[in-house]
Amino acid sequence: MPQITYIENNGTEHQVELPLGATLMEGAVQNDIKGIVAECGGSCMCATCHVYIDDKFLDLLPEMEEEEDEMLDGANAERRENSRLGCQVRISKQLDGIIVRIPEKQ
Ligand code: FES
Repeated sequence: MPQITYIENNGTEHQVELPLGATLMEGAVQNDIKGIVAECGGSCMCATCHVYIDDKFLDLLPEMEEEEDEMLDGANAERRENSRLGCQVRISKQLDGIIVRIPEKQ
C-alpha cells in the first residue's frame, strides 16, 4: 500500500499506509492525525480538510475540479499554490511517498 507522510503544523510527523482509492482526508481521520476536521465528511463542502502537498507530487495529483477551487478560496488558512482539499485527492500508486502538510487552522 502507498505510504503517506502527514506533518502536523507543530512538526509532528506521521507515516501511514493507505489503500489505493482512499482519500488523504480519510487517511488522516482514520489514523487520528490532528488538524484535519473534515466537517462535511468528504463532500467538498467545508474546506476543513485543507492540506499543503509537497511540490514534488503536485504534477501527479488529479486535476482540481471547480468546486474544490471555490472551496479553497474560503479556507481558513492561507491558500497556497500547493493547497488541495484532502477529501478530493485519492491515493494512487504514483502518490506512494507523498508528503502532506497540515495548515495551522481549518
Ligand atoms: S471534508 Fe469537507 S471539503 Fe473535504
